[in-house]
Order: sequence, then structure tokens, then C-alpha cells
Amino acid sequence: KFKPRVFSGIQPSGNLTLGNYLGALKRFAEKQDEGIETIYCLVDLHAITLWQEPEALKRQTREAAAAFIASGVDPSRSVLFNQSQVSAHAEMGWLLNCVARMGWMNRMTQWKDKTQGKNAEQQSLGLFAYPALMAADILVYHATMVPVGEDQKQHVELTRDIAAKFNHDYKTDFFPMPEPLIEGTATRVMSLRDGTKKMSKSDPSDASRINLTDDADTIAKKFRKAVTDPAPLPESLEGLAERPEARNLVNIYAALSNRNAEAVIAEFGGQGWGTFKPALADLAVSKLEPISSEMSRLMNDPAEIDRILGAGAEQARAIAQPILEGALDIMGM
Ligand code: ADP
Ligand code: NA
Repeated sequence: KFKPRVFSGIQPSGNLTLGNYLGALKRFAEKQDEGIETIYCLVDLHAITLWQEPEALKRQTREAAAAFIASGVDPSRSVLFNQSQVSAHAEMGWLLNCVARMGWMNRMTQWKDKTQGKNAEQQSLGLFAYPALMAADILVYHATMVPVGEDQKQHVELTRDIAAKFNHDYKTDFFPMPEPLIEGTATRVMSLRDGTKKMSKSDPSDASRINLTDDADTIAKKFRKAVTDPAPLPESLEGLAERPEARNLVNIYAALSNRNAEAVIAEFGGQGWGTFKPALADLAVSKLEPISSEMSRLMNDPAEIDRILGAGAEQARAIAQPILEGALDIMGM
């Protein structure tokens, strides 16, 4: 009943990181190259669940679009657009707010993390309801596959729960059950300063992450200063079990070189950080430099980026609008 269709998104809420690249952007381009229909969205409506300076949001949205394209997402083969330009997202979001339950939102670990130690009462209502809007983003395309990093797995599972409750409550099989695609060695790239935290664009410490726009010297310096234990790299994979920081750097190397962690250990096992970190930095620079230079080339022509996003929004609307109307009809509207 449902044809294979990939949907995923990224918030244009700041500097995109190596985590976003390995966990998301790189895989978005790979899915497109497999010949599956791919729809990719800059989720600005999600970004504003936390305060965004308006001019910065505009610039970051174009910058994120440039990052998609520079990472290999081809607007002539994938639908690339920003969420606020396709009103079906917000409309479907409301419908699903009325299907989802408060208790489900309360159990989301990201909500708990983001409100930890802060007054939850002072957070925006949007931040709480964010996962229902994410479900709408996916379901308004009848998407069947959602490539995401490990941190988003729970939200895709919630999307399935919302789809199932809608189908059950309205005695229909209108919505598919989308599958999270969490694969590869870099589904969770960790902070370079703390191996227990994920690398994130919203981490206040710039040294904790590699930004896609960092220059070669900055990348080398951040890897050199990355926190690790002093022991050399182990001779086998098991030796990484209790060493999260070492494992993270090995996984990053593996993902950047399209190999598995075993192959990296086979090459570097027994060697010290003084050898491995510069090799990792060189590899990262060789992969990221072409992306950042293509991003700056694209950013020199913002009108062209706006044109691409405008055309993408039109394609997205053509798919989403009939599905939104189908849901409204099922609900009696
Ligand atoms: P962030 O968490 O950096 O604010 P988003 O929430 O916009 O980014 O996530 C965009 C995509 O990037 C999601 O698929 C998410 O799973 C992925 N992602 C974000 N951070 C990482 C990471 N450290 N490792 C792997 N994937 C990540
Ligand atoms: Na995230």
C-alpha cells in the first residue's frame, strides 16, 4: 500500500556538526543514491521551540540548506525545503496533537534532558509538543523510512505509536508505520570534551564539537585536545568497551573512511594518540574541507538557495496536501 519513501530533517538552529554530518547528512545523500524517493526538510518550526534570533535563523536556514547540498543531497533528485513554507506540517501537527497523549510526551528522554535542572513550567509549549510535530513531519508524506541518529530513535517510535492510535481510533489503515534507519558506526557521535554526552550544535563549548565550517587548523586543534585516557589504542575491539572517548574517536575515523571499527583497530591497534589523533584530523579535514568550501560558495548566492528551497517547498506541498486532506476527511472535517 505504501511505496518506499524516506523523510528526515535537521534543525537550522546553529552550526552543523560532524555528528549531524555522520549521523544524518552523509546518510541522507547515500539514501538518495540508492534510488529511493527522498524528502529532506530544514525544520525551522522545531528550531523556534527554543528562542532563535530572527536574522540568525534566516541565515542558519540557508546555511543548513548549503550543508545538505554540499554533503551530496541533490535538489534535482531529493525534495529539499524548509518546514515553515509548507503549512501542511503545522496543520497535521495540530491533528496529531489531538491524537498523542500528554503522558507519551512526558516520557520523552529529550524533553527530560532539556528540562533537567530547569523549570519545566517555563519551557515553551512547543518544546513539549515537539515530538508530535515531528510525527506530523513524517506522516504527512506517508514516509516509510526515517534515517536518524540514535538520539532520535525514541521520537520515531513515538511516531509509530501516534500513527497506530490514529489508525485504531478512526478504524483505518491511513498511516504507515515508519521505520527508523539507525545504521553504521556513527549513529551517536560523542562530545570531544565528555564521552558521555553527544556532540551537539547546542553544546555551549565549541571545543566539544567539530563544526562543518571549522578550518583545518581548528579541526586539528580540537582533535589534538580531545579528552582521552592515556593508554594506546587497544589491539582488539573488546579493548574499547570501557573506553568511551577512545571508542568515539575510532568510530569517527571508521565512519569518515567508510570502514568498520575493526578495520581501524587493525590498522592503529597498539599505537598512541600522538599517531592516531593527527591521522584522524587529516582524514576529517580531507572529508570536510570540500564540504565547507562548497558551503561558502553556495552561501555567496543566497537568492539561489532561496530559489532551490522555494522549488522544493512546491514539490513537498504537492505530496503533503492530499495526505493532509485525507486525514481531515477521516476525522470528519
Ligand atoms: P542537534 O541534536 O545537533 O541539535 P538535530 O536535533 O537537528 O541536531 O538533529 C539532526 C539529525 O542529526 C538527527 O538525525 C540526529 O539524530 C542527528 N544527530 C545529531 N547529533 C548527532 C550525533 N552527535 N551523532 C549522530 N547523529 C546526530
Ligand atoms: Na537532536
